[in-house]
Amino acid sequence: MTKTIFAANWKMNHGPPDAGSFLDRFLDGYQQESGRELWFFPPAVSIQSVAQRVARLPGILVGAQNVYWEPKGAFTGELSVSMAKDAGARAVLVGHSERRHVFGETDDETGRKVRAVLDSAMTPLLCVGETLSERDNGKTLAVIHRQLAVLDGLDGESLARIVIAYEPVWAIGTGKNATPADAGTVHAAIHSWFEKRGVVGGTVPVLYGGSVKPENAQELLSEDEIDGVLVGGASLEPKSWQAICAVGLD
Ligand code: 13P
Repeated sequence: MTKTIFAANWKMNHGPPDAGSFLDRFLDGYQQESGRELWFFPPAVSIQSVAQRVARLPGILVGAQNVYWEPKGAFTGELSVSMAKDAGARAVLVGHSERRHVFGETDDETGRKVRAVLDSAMTPLLCVGETLSERDNGKTLAVIHRQLAVLDGLDGESLARIVIAYEPVWAIGTGKNATPADAGTVHAAIHSWFEKRGVVGGTVPVLYGGSVKPENAQELLSEDEIDGVLVGGASLEPKSWQAICAVGLD
């Protein structure tokens, strides 16, 4: 993997005024660095303003946190892929653990969303990860494989357009991160899942998410199998997000 992806998931934070002031501070002195991309996932109401703001900045991409797979119609509260795209999104988070565990999103729904995002020529960032009890019962890889199975039936070209985030549920927002070695084992299993399906090694980036902070980002990113990070809490403050995005730069 030649590029490193630094993805910020703002969750239900930073509506348009806050997103604007975050960018004022974050972009002050921003310089694109080759080999790294910054992806922002603001809440839906802020996608357009963030996308307009970064439109001329190479190396920065904006995405949506969620979409619905139907193209339009009577689906109160939902966002279609084309609406997200028209607002400036180029990627979509799919199957985030909060969608799965707070809103009850199923594997089947996750699979439909991945396909809708691919059909609209955007990038799905599919999130996978086990709960603490699944981990304690030795089921981590079985859970990851079940969550990846929603991709069965996609051709190699589609599979090569996907990005994965491994986010152990027990590490999200808890201050407990997986060790680089533990995350590396799961990332290696994900990379090999794609290789077995004919996707050339390393084509599909696998990001790590779960309590990534300026203090641990360096250690996590120095693990070979980790191609980037997906960050919640520590991406909300311009200074901590700048510090994470600067990891590895001298
Ligand atoms: P935290 O970085 O706040 O643990 O959140 C991780 C996450 O869910 C990113 O999608």
